[in-house]
Amino acid sequence: MGTLGIVIAIDGPAAAGKGTVATRLAQELSLAKLDTGLLYRAVGFAVLQAGGDPDDAGHAYEAAKNLDPELLKNPALRLDDAAQAASKVAVIAEVRAQLLDFQRDFANNPPPLDDGTPAQGAILDGRDIGTTVCPDASAKLFITASGEVRAERRYKELLERGEKAIYARVLEDIKERDARDQGRSASPLAAPKDALVLDTSEMSADEVYAEALKFIRSRVSA
Ligand code: DC
Repeated sequence: MGTLGIVIAIDGPAAAGKGTVATRLAQELSLAKLDTGLLYRAVGFAVLQAGGDPDDAGHAYEAAKNLDPELLKNPALRLDDAAQAASKVAVIAEVRAQLLDFQRDFANNPPPLDDGTPAQGAILDGRDIGTTVCPDASAKLFITASGEVRAERRYKELLERGEKAIYARVLEDIKERDARDQGRSASPLAAPKDALVLDTSEMSADEVYAEALKFIRSRVSA
């Protein structure tokens, strides 16, 4: 397959629904999917576990260099402590550089699908896929929604999972991460110029999926 496969880049702020649409697109188009946020979460989590400080470039770089791919399966990466630590280590340019090769290699040489069949390409979601990791992606999407709508969705998701949550706290966390993700100098969160931008504040998940698929089909002839 190699570089002949299609590459779909999906970027956007925290809790905008990137993962949901990426999973459905991956299934429909037989693409291997990489949630790149998990890489940053794993680095942040490893720093915390080692008793380090996620804002410390030395600690974060060591964790990125020694990242164990097995850690990507750890459910603790989904928790908010890991998310906050992720957005801190993501500010550090050396950490980003360290994770770049892994992401590009995945895009260019996607692993087989879960059923063992070869992937038709790759879909990566994150913050800087279309701008930095895969600037030549076949199609780029930027999925966003207002901070309040994202906090509301995240809040409901936490309650459904049986976790305790306070809406105001969830909103505060999202705003804090947005500010850090957009304000950093290394690959800040921004919509690529050639991306389809979808503000999903008033769209259902089905509508987002349909729009995304239509756009990708218009870009990719296969
Ligand atoms: O998508 P997520 O919430 O799992 O991402 C966690 C953090 O990782 C996010 O706040 C910023 C960082 N990140 C990044 O800087 N670049 C990416 N491509 C993906 C995530």
